[in-house]
Amino acid sequence: MLVQTSQGQSGSAHVVVLGNEKGGSGKSTTALHIAVALLKAGQRVATVDLDCRQQSFTRYINNRSAWARRTGLDLELPVHCCIKLGNTERTFDFIIIDTPGSDSYLMRLAHSMADTLVTPINDSFLDFDVLGTVDPATYAVIGESHYAEMVRDTRRKRRQLDGASTDWIVVRNRLSMIGSRNKQLVADGLNELSFRLGFRSIDGFAERVVYREFFPRGLTALDDLDEATLGTRPSLGHVTAREEVTSLLRQLKLPLDERGRRRAANRAEWFTQVDKPLELHDILGA
Ligand SMILES: Nc1ncnc2c1ncn2[C@@H]1O[C@H](COP(=O)(O)OP(=O)(O)O)[C@@H](O)[C@H]1O
Ligand SMILES: [Mg+2]
Repeated sequence: MLVQTSQGQSGSAHVVVLGNEKGGSGKSTTALHIAVALLKAGQRVATVDLDCRQQSFTRYINNRSAWARRTGLDLELPVHCCIKLGNTERTFDFIIIDTPGSDSYLMRLAHSMADTLVTPINDSFLDFDVLGTVDPATYAVIGESHYAEMVRDTRRKRRQLDGASTDWIVVRNRLSMIGSRNKQLVADGLNELSFRLGFRSIDGFAERVVYREFFPRGLTALDDLDEATLGTRPSLGHVTAREEVTSLLRQLKLPLDERGRRRAANRAEWFTQVDKPLELHDILGA
């Protein structure tokens, strides 16, 4: 049975969905980093891989488990499942769902049960195109694209179903470390779109080779950055990656601590009382 839509009440897991109809944007990489961060914060975490064809998220977690066995390290592991779910919603604090980069029934279903939707995008107009289109001369936003429309639709359905809202965060991934005109134009475009679509746009991870090296060992930038864990000497890249993962987690504003839980409860309460368009709440900094 699939997980039922979270009621946003205590005792019900907070559902974080990683979604973007485009492959290669960093969904699986970000998914494991969020899961490990939450495990390290003492949360009970379940992870779900809906990308049944690629299964990169599943393999990333299997690699972590194999690396822990091989090295004898105590690496935190989530309870992981590939598609089939039991009574997961009441047993865990968080459920992290990684979705495939293509439209499907399961992918839409996951989006419609998201309390938090994280959409990583590469810093290029080719990736921006799943959210919106820009004028080729001025780069002003002139339209909304298919993935954005799908999210709007699933958020509306979610709201009709149980009155809950989805906090949608678009995370710029693989950011170039040097400034460029393209980088600024993408930032401006996302800022403009965020008001139209009702998402928060934040800076995520820089383009770093360490993120690619983590996969075979199932590691994240939050694991111990020593030679025994990494299997190689730690570098400045590891330390900086950890800072940006920590910063991402802070900006996601997940209901981790008492304050976060209160904020989530207040938001749920507010939504039951005020019939306000869904698109505004995050921009106003709920
Ligand atoms: N910040 C980053 N820096 C460098 N490489 C990255 C970064 N984020 C992801 N990658 C790499 O980009 C590729 C796609 O990432 P992945 O998480 O599999 O995306 P998705 O799940 O959206 O298809 C992988 O090779 C991954 O290692
Ligand atoms: Mg993936």
